[in-house]
Amino acid sequence: MRAAVYDHYGPADVLRIEDVEKPAPKEDEVLVAVHATTVNRLDVHTREANRSGGRVVSFLSRLVSGIRAPRQRILGSEFAGEVVAIGAAVREFGIGDRIFGNTGLGFGAYAEFMRVRESWRVALMPKGMGFEDAAAISDGFLNALTCLKQADLRKGRSILVYGASGSIGTAGVQLARYYGAEVTAVCSTKNVELVRSLGADRVIDYTKEDFTKNGETYDVIFDAVGKHSFERSKGSLKAGGLFLATDGFRNLLLAIWTPRFSDKKVIFQIPPKQTKQDVQFLKALVEAGKYRAVIDRRYPLTDVVEATRYVETQHKTGNVVLTLDGAATS
Ligand SMILES: NC(=O)c1ccc[n+]([C@@H]2O[C@H](COP(=O)([O-])OP(=O)(O)OC[C@H]3O[C@@H](n4cnc5c(N)ncnc54)[C@H](OP(=O)(O)O)[C@@H]3O)[C@@H](O)[C@H]2O)c1
Repeated sequence: MRAAVYDHYGPADVLRIEDVEKPAPKEDEVLVAVHATTVNRLDVHTREANRSGGRVVSFLSRLVSGIRAPRQRILGSEFAGEVVAIGAAVREFGIGDRIFGNTGLGFGAYAEFMRVRESWRVALMPKGMGFEDAAAISDGFLNALTCLKQADLRKGRSILVYGASGSIGTAGVQLARYYGAEVTAVCSTKNVELVRSLGADRVIDYTKEDFTKNGETYDVIFDAVGKHSFERSKGSLKAGGLFLATDGFRNLLLAIWTPRFSDKKVIFQIPPKQTKQDVQFLKALVEAGKYRAVIDRRYPLTDVVEATRYVETQHKTGNVVLTLDGAATS
């Protein structure tokens, strides 16, 4: 089968298309003919061994992914496709089922076929949704949900989502809206209408207004893009307010320190706790019309390097999909 592989940590062009052996499902696994996957920040960070995070973070990243070289040659954590074979112990899925989900650090989706354990974060695709949309909904959602679960969001509570146009941000706005909170979203000019359409009550264009200077305060500030900070946000948090982080070694330390010594707290859950039930919840939200995919660009798998370079600009809107046109089904 064809797959995008890499054998060394490094820039986007370490990725290349190669013919590799087609996997066979184990007892508790299904074999999926992948129709679509995505390039997300997990792929990008893992491929460069988190070098941009500094030496400590890069070392920790290599401990997980392989010290000298990546153990898993095929990236891609989000997928949507069709089940073409099942292991003897599989009960939930059958051949021909259309499924979607997220393998996290298990990766494997940049390929025509992938093995997926039945118990992983995988579910039948939402009714009426296509492969490309289904591939693009899980990563941002799971990351946003992990954070927002900590925030007791409900009617009467307010949240500011910073970086509302990214993968996690677009998910965060939709989820916060679902929970009934009053949502203020921060993004750049070109994404204001999109973010409003996702359910934000108020949108602040960060190129025109600095939210930390307008006197407004919130119960929760969610830095969905890792480009703000607790220190700069503190004055915009109400008493007892929460700063939800998605990135940054410093936030790990603050998440230990602030609950003990500060009225306003940083929350940063590492590793994120994400479950199969979360994916089933996502499917239900989509089917109820409460959640939708946000796709910026689509590329064929063969253009994985170009797609990756675009994601690395850090200016994509929502998600970037890789398609496996004419994906084999047997
Ligand atoms: N996705 C993952 O798998 C994953 C997992 C764990 C942690 N994280 C971390 O979570 C964070 C978000 O990831 P993501 O995948 O959601 O990011 P993303 O989709 O790449 O975010 C890009 C978006 O952020 C906006 N943006 C860029 N600079 C900004 C700024 N200074 N202020 C406000 N918005 C800005 C961009 O729009 P404009 O340029 O137009 O503003 C763009 O829409 C990152 O720090 C990442 O490392 C990601």
